[in-house]
This record gives sequence, C-alpha cells and structure tokens, in this order.
Amino acid sequence: MSQVSYDASSRTYLLSTPATSYALRIGVDDVPQHVHWGVPLTLAQASALPVYDGLTSSFASTGGEELAVEGGARFGVPSLLVRYADGTRGVEWVHEGHEIRDDRLRVRLRDRHYPLACTLEYAVHADSDIIERSLTLRHTDGQGEPVEILRCDAAAWSVPAASGVRLSHTVGQWSGETQLRRAEAPYAETVFTSRRGLSGHYANPWVMVDAGDADEEHGAVWSMALAWSGSWRITAHRDHTGGPFTVTGGAGHDGLSWRLRPGETHNTPVFAGQFSTRGFGGTSRAWHAYIVRHVLPRPDELRPVLYNSWEATGWDVTLEGQRALAEKAAALGVELFVVDDGWFGGRTSDHAGLGDWHPNPERFPQGLGPLVEAVRGHGMKFGLWVEPEMTNPDSELYRAHPDWVLHMPHRRRTELRNQLVLNFARTDVTEWAYKWLDQLVSAHAIDFLKWDMNRALTEASWPGDPDAERLWSDHVRGVYTVLDRLRQAHPSLRIEGCAGGGGRADLGMLRYTDQTWISDNTDADDRITIQHGYSQLYPARTMDAWVTDSPNPFTRRTTPLSYRFHVAMTGALGIGGDLSRWTGPELAEARALLTLYKDIRPVVQQGEQYRLPDAVQYMSGDRVVVVAWGADRSLRLSGLDATAVYADDATGTEYAAATLLTHGLPLHLPKGDKPSTVVRLTRL
Ligand code: GLA
Repeated sequence: MSQVSYDASSRTYLLSTPATSYALRIGVDDVPQHVHWGVPLTLAQASALPVYDGLTSSFASTGGEELAVEGGARFGVPSLLVRYADGTRGVEWVHEGHEIRDDRLRVRLRDRHYPLACTLEYAVHADSDIIERSLTLRHTDGQGEPVEILRCDAAAWSVPAASGVRLSHTVGQWSGETQLRRAEAPYAETVFTSRRGLSGHYANPWVMVDAGDADEEHGAVWSMALAWSGSWRITAHRDHTGGPFTVTGGAGHDGLSWRLRPGETHNTPVFAGQFSTRGFGGTSRAWHAYIVRHVLPRPDELRPVLYNSWEATGWDVTLEGQRALAEKAAALGVELFVVDDGWFGGRTSDHAGLGDWHPNPERFPQGLGPLVEAVRGHGMKFGLWVEPEMTNPDSELYRAHPDWVLHMPHRRRTELRNQLVLNFARTDVTEWAYKWLDQLVSAHAIDFLKWDMNRALTEASWPGDPDAERLWSDHVRGVYTVLDRLRQAHPSLRIEGCAGGGGRADLGMLRYTDQTWISDNTDADDRITIQHGYSQLYPARTMDAWVTDSPNPFTRRTTPLSYRFHVAMTGALGIGGDLSRWTGPELAEARALLTLYKDIRPVVQQGEQYRLPDAVQYMSGDRVVVVAWGADRSLRLSGLDATAVYADDATGTEYAAATLLTHGLPLHLPKGDKPSTVVRLTRL
C-alpha cells in the first residue's frame, strides 16, 4: 500500500508510517502549511483539519509553515533565507506540482519572480516511523546572477502547541560527551548549534520534545535528528502566541553564506523526525531500528572485540611493544588489534608527523609487515589509526603544500593540538587522501581504520575562491566522499568514526562507519552517563567501549575489573588497558569476562535496548540480558511478554515474566566496591 496520498480538493498530502501520520497542505498563496504530525489519520480526516495560520496576523510570531521563509508578515525563525542579485530578499511561493511514489513525496515550489526552485522532500519506510525530510534548491536560470543563500535548513518540524513543553537534548565537552538534559522549554527561541565544522562534543544534533508527561516507557515524544557531521544549527521555538512548537534545523552555523550558481542544484542533508507514543525508550528503540535498517553500511555483522593501544602506549609505538600487546590481547580472546596514533612519519608526540602516512622508519624498519603478520598469526584482524583531515606544520606534507590547509590572507593560522586542518573541499586534497588510504589499506589488506579528527575548523577559507564559505559544507562532503570510495574499493574494510572521542558522533558519519568512539573518557562511572546520552539516539552495536586500567589514567578513579567490563559490555566491547601491567589473576578474570561478553554479544548488539535505573536490558528472540550496577535490589524488567516464563542461564532459577515485570529480578549483586552483574535469561 502506498504510504503517500493526496487530496486534490483541499491540496492536502498525507504520509503514513506504521504507527503515525504526517500531513501538510498547500494553503493560501501556495504556502506549504503544516497540518498534522501524530497518531494515524485518514486522508479525509487530515483534509478536514484546520491549519494554524500565523501569516495573516501581525500578532503571530510563527506561521505554521512546513518551511518558514522570509517575506510578508513573517516574524518567526526562518528556515530559508535568500537574497537575489538586485537586493530583494525572501520568497513568494508558486506551487508547481508534486511527485508521489509509494514511499516518497516531492512537493515542487518556485519563487513567483526569481530563478529559485525548491523541492520539499519527504521519505518514509514501511518498517519505521522515522520520516526523512530534506530540501533541494535549484537555480533555474542557466545564465544570470547567483542567488545568495544566507540560511538553508533541511526542514522545519511542528509539534502541537499543547505538547511542546519540554526539551530533551545533550550537552557535553571533550571527555564528557552526550550528557542528557531534559527541562521545560522557555517561551523563546532555543538554539542548539556547532560552529566548529564538526557536529561537536558540546551538543549532539538532535532534540526531543514532549508535553512534560512522557517517561522512559510511556507518553508522546516528538524527536528530530540531523544527519550531518559539520557545523549545524537547530532552533526550537516555543511560541507564547498560540502557534505550534517548531524545530527548524540544518547544516551550517549563523553568519555563513554562499552562492547558488546559475543552473546549480543543492541538496541539504536529511533532518529526520519521529513521533512515538512509547516514551523516550520507545523513541530510542525506533531510532536504533531505523539506523540499523536504513543508515549503517553493515548493520548485521557482530562487531569484533577489539584491542586499542592508545592508553597503553600513547605515542611510544614500537614493533616489539605492539607485538607483546598483541600476544596478550589474543590470549584474552580479542579479535581485532588496532594500533593507535604514533606508527607513522615523525609522530613521536602530538607536535609532528600528521600528513606523513608512511610507517616510521625507526620504529618499523621493515614497514608494517612484521606487525601485521604477528597480529594475523594470533588469529586477529589488524587495524590502524589515521587522521586524514589534519597536518602538523612540522611535517613533510605541510612543507610541500602549505596552501592545502584552511587559511585566510593576513590572518594567523590557529593551531590546536599543534595541527592545522587540510581543506577537504579541494579535490586535489581529497584525491591525495584517497590515494594514500587506498594504498595503505591495500598493502596489508587492513581490516579496520579508526578515522580521527582532533580539532575544529578555524580560518576556514580558501584564498582565491570568491565563494569560500561553501567549504564549511564541502569539507564534510569531501570526508564522506573519501570514506565512501574507500568502502567501495575495500568491501571488507570496517571503519570507526572518532573526533577526539565523540566529537563527530552523528547520523551523517554512521552512513559511512561501523562504530563510533564516543569518548576519550574510559572511566566506567563517567561512561555510564555518556553511554546513556549516546543511547538516546544511537544503537549499542555502534558504541565502542573499552576496558582500561585502574586507577583510570584520566580520572584516577579506582574500580574493580568486573565493573569496568560490565559497563563496557553494554556496547561493542574493546580492551584499551596496558595488558603488560595486568596481573595473572586479572588476565584470567578478563578472559572469563570476555568469554561471557561473546555469549551475550548477539543480544546486546542486535537486540532491543531498555534503559532501566542503574541497568540496561537487551532482548533478542528468546534471550534477555541485564547488565546492572549500583545497590542490590530487585530490578523490574521491561518489554517482556507477560505470559512467558524465563530461566536464569547460570542458576536455572525460573521466573514468570509477569513477576519480573511487576516485582522484579533479584540481582544478588556481590558485596564490595562498585558491585555489578550480568544476568542472562532464556525463555522456556
Ligand atoms: C584522539 C582520540 C584518541 C586517540 C588520540 C590519538 O584523542 O580520541 O582515542 O586516538 O586522538 O592521538
């Protein structure tokens, strides 16, 4: 059955997802107006609904439009801001028609006078309540002057005024990403943004809106997430004049502008949205399922248990040191050995070497071959850290190509972590990057790359290019292109996205990567909060989590090995500690815990996730896994079929699901510091 329908008499479009409806209408003056986003309606019901019309009143502050523009009596947040060569601003719409396919709606609009066409794009899926929205702008004149684009959001979403009360989002910083915040929305415009050229540690590009009454398992939640890995802006507006709660979002930050050239077409990234009546947990599970079915390149593969050398050896990478770590890692059951920073060029600290992507000749006199062989000899796959978008001024690359970095005439080149950003909007730079990456991967059939990006863009310009601000998005597209080409050329290559930890953890990167390094902070206590925030949108299989040393090198906090393991087992487990310092009993315990992880891995990575107080529950088929910490207690489970009976895999104890749902699972947490446990249940 088609998920898109149209009523010609009222000019109303209806999108139907399995559990929701979305409707818009071409209204007076051909303005596309928002009609409905919520519980399912028929086309007749949607066509009969009135729209909020803020456009004919000078007292309203929002128009109730599908995409707010500038012009006429509009005083709210514009999603699209344009200026033509003669100085005229804004848009007056003419509805040109539409294209409807089973799962896609394109509403074609153009300006009444100027050479600007705009298509509102909506895509739906038969297996998801997520609606993907984006925009296509087209300069319809082959000749003539460019149109200046001051803002071009991908979509504006509307939530009924009575339900737009509370906002959920994340704040963060380096080593403290994705801290969930949930608070009443002010009657004001609230801006979430990154001006850094990457989606950023400080806010993740999504928001959720509810009436203040939703909880983890109940209640209506509207959520929106931007699939973009560069600068972005999402503006939420709670209107005190009675209009809907609106959320407009797209690529780029305030103050940037660029020119749409004659004949040119511009596609925005996707700003996806979901309405759910199943609370924040149900909302998250629907995003997880969508990412698995429609975003990730290789969703169904179990993520290997990896070892990463960073916390163990830092920049002191040597053949012997890595070989010794690899031997210990393999003995624990690790499946993929990743050498982090320090293997290439003159990279013995963060002062030099970025850009010189050949093995350091003193550390690897015979190249990487002997190490790769040793790692494979232990039955593990081999991975490497790279940071392709960067260079140190102290590098052969920078000495040869000082013009390849972002810079502005008469301005200092700001160094952060002693490095400068290569201009990935330049095709000679992306060609260079693709070439060395392709050769590196080919030379050793490398299985895995950790693609890092450790600083924000500054002096983001390209001297000589009159339209240099385009590079804020063209850099990101350059990164996507290189990642895409690499994956195409090396179908067995897997990629971990990283940006100083979780600085670029977003739906845009997940299209080209398999997993995400969500934070440089590996302290288990801190991780619980960071992982909780990450899980609001992104699935466990994409969440890399390492077990590292105690005391933690960053926080100096001491925690038991089992607790560190249990917390890391709630995602894609890895080991990042200095195994040369782990004692015999610790290595034995680690081996047992890693074996336990391999048993629960299909449930954790491929099951549905329920966030419980101080615990996470996963369900897949007949199996339930609970990872819990905190005080000993009975933990009420979620989502079970109340008629089922489960048995504990370890003890054989049987539980009626009805009991688990109402009275809880007795956890029997061990005594001592930071107690934690993993319980495995199987349906009888
Ligand atoms: C970033 C990453 C770390 C590590 C270092 C190496 O900080 O997030 O995991 O790779 O770079 O320099």
